[in-house]
Amino acid sequence: MLKGKHIILGITGSIAAYKSAVLCRLLVSAGAEVRVIMTPLAKQFITPLTMATLSQHPILVDFFNPENGEWNSHVKLGEWADLYLIAPATANTMAKMATGVADNLLLTTYLSARCAVAVAPAMDLDMYAHTATQRNMEALRQDGVHIIEPGSGFLASGLQGKGRMAEPADIVKAVEALFSEKKKSLEGRHYLVTAGATIEPIDPVRYISNHSSGKMGYAVAEELARRGARVTLVSGRTSLDCPKGVERVDVLSAEDMYKACCEIFPATDGAVMCAAVADYTPQVVAEQKLKKGDGDMSIALKRTHDIAATLGKDKGARLLVGFAMETENEQTNAEDKLRRKNFDFIVLNSLRVEGAGFRGDTNVVSLIDGEGREDLPLMTKGDVAIHIVDKMEKLIKL
Ligand code: CTP
Repeated sequence: MLKGKHIILGITGSIAAYKSAVLCRLLVSAGAEVRVIMTPLAKQFITPLTMATLSQHPILVDFFNPENGEWNSHVKLGEWADLYLIAPATANTMAKMATGVADNLLLTTYLSARCAVAVAPAMDLDMYAHTATQRNMEALRQDGVHIIEPGSGFLASGLQGKGRMAEPADIVKAVEALFSEKKKSLEGRHYLVTAGATIEPIDPVRYISNHSSGKMGYAVAEELARRGARVTLVSGRTSLDCPKGVERVDVLSAEDMYKACCEIFPATDGAVMCAAVADYTPQVVAEQKLKKGDGDMSIALKRTHDIAATLGKDKGARLLVGFAMETENEQTNAEDKLRRKNFDFIVLNSLRVEGAGFRGDTNVVSLIDGEGREDLPLMTKGDVAIHIVDKMEKLIKL
């Protein structure tokens, strides 16, 4: 569930910060990528070295590195994250979050974050019960922050009561529940996905096609459906079963795929164009099987419609995601397609990389939009689909 998730772990100045070490370890073991931000006071409770070692990254405290002036961009961090988890969250930090105070990196990152935010409060029972704290927590709830309720028990003050930060294992469960809730985040939306190879007939027994297996497109359709979207999968030839909850429209030629897409697209919220569509098709399809002669032969081809470019022309507010498979000048070619076809972003497959491409179960891709490029490591096509749909969700929220 947490595999590949980007989590910022914010640590504030509470004695419960010692539990953040275990929490960080559990998140990393579950496959999450964790970056730690600490408030200056948090460093008194747990050392940056401990947290840097457990998270496998330097921790962040200041707006810039005083040694070399390097800027710690809270905006970039906020964009990178799928979840901002503040654990422990003191009464002081929650009060500042509720009122928009931005006097440390942990707080500016909160104000910049577009991702889900969760806090695990930790404090003495009277502080927790105080109307001011309760009022601030209510304000945070209203702002969409998830509160991971503290437990009751022995407190650092020596008193017994509610205020103990939830146990790390319970926080991880709450985080997992949050991500599975997120999976239904596309309910009420409708997407078109194209997948597989088109078949361009030459005569009744021969055709022009390509090596596309359809796996990438089917994985995207499955991920969209898992998150509650209605999905219409316009599929060329593949040997794959239709994913659960997905409506499939089978087509053969580029022309059939073009007609189906033009009909379906206007009623959707967007499309992901994964199909490997033939750019050329025979000018004439022979009615009878072509007989061989003694000499060479050639087949005259004509251009097919560019489906993505056609949809891109009139897409309005709909999202349009494309793929590019390149063997040379990949960045320039991908950027050119991004512009020409009016994609919101393009998924670049580099055929030069081992583990990427048509037939396998893995892929190595980069996500490119008008702002830049994100290179993803080798991963399953299912995980690539999760990244693609995560990026779509981020764009929908804007
Ligand atoms: N595409 C499409 N209709 C076509 C050709 C391509 O919808 N007739 C879509 C693909 O599904 C993919 C994107 O456009 O999302 C890029 O396809 P690609 O074949 O790599 O690019 P082309 O525009 O065909 O350019 P080139 O052949 O020069 O690489």
